[in-house]
Amino acid sequence: MPFPQTRMRRLRATRALRGLVRETQLSAQDLVYPMFVAHGVDRREPIGTLPGIDRLSIAHAVDEAREAAALGVPAVLLFGLPAAKDEQGSGAWDEEGIIQLATRAIKDAVPELIVVTDLCLCEYTSHGHCGVLRSDGSVDNDATLDLLARTAVSQARAGADLIAPSDMMDGRVGFIRTALDEEGNTDTPILAYSAKFASAFYGPFRDAADSTPAFGDRRGYQLDPANGNEALREARLDVEEGADILMVKPALPYLDLIRRIKDETGMPLAAYNVSGEYAMLKAAAATGALDERSAVLEALTGIRRAGADIVITYHAKDAARWLE
Ligand code: PBG
Repeated sequence: MPFPQTRMRRLRATRALRGLVRETQLSAQDLVYPMFVAHGVDRREPIGTLPGIDRLSIAHAVDEAREAAALGVPAVLLFGLPAAKDEQGSGAWDEEGIIQLATRAIKDAVPELIVVTDLCLCEYTSHGHCGVLRSDGSVDNDATLDLLARTAVSQARAGADLIAPSDMMDGRVGFIRTALDEEGNTDTPILAYSAKFASAFYGPFRDAADSTPAFGDRRGYQLDPANGNEALREARLDVEEGADILMVKPALPYLDLIRRIKDETGMPLAAYNVSGEYAMLKAAAATGALDERSAVLEALTGIRRAGADIVITYHAKDAARWLE
């Protein structure tokens, strides 16, 4: 008697059968492409620790946005690099600020592309913290909320389709929701960075945005990587406060929380495959340790399998090409 074939072996026999029983789909439609936009003319400045990702002046950002859309990527996430930073981060809510200008330009040129705006002060403050400081150097949560609300309203006014607060101040989602509603932006949804961990994997981003805190760290407001239950509590609070989409960040070291938050809240869920996760695969691919294409697609599929509806990733354009 021949050894009986296992069910999965029969189902793996052809590509079509494998496709038919595949549990997780990954497509360009699930991806969001992050971009760093800077002032200046004809500026395209490589970021040393993020190979393939550049700081872009507005016209170049529009070109990249158009390219992403043409590849089937439905959304970009914008980070602004202001011309000057100050204690309060006033560049964040300037009507002629970099995010506001870039949002208008991209919405004009590629109206069908979803523009998500990152909402945080750390790219705009001279000290690099995500909020305004008290005299003792600690972040003043409540004073920061007013500035975040102002920034959210100015981003919505510029045409942002989705506002993404990444600051992790307490009560921000409800506060921003109220401010948006009062200004008549009742249809602008909020993508809340609900479970944002104090992570070493943001290294290249801070390089790109020059936003490493001048002193101290972000452990006062970002989550301890050891705390999963706390991440769930944060996610529930954001739901109560009116978040439309939740986020877990980074992605790969926190797949368990993507799954738990998806299961427990049933909310639309994004995962941010952050700069350090990207840099890690790029570096390994550059030495020949990994095949970039298969490693990236495996990682992104894993994030989807864990429960993320949306994957924010610097690999978005490459992945979209590979998935075509
Ligand atoms: C701003 C912000 C950060 C990232 C996204 N928004 C950095 C941080 O908290 O220091 C990191 C994204 C990445 O690493 O790709 N608060």
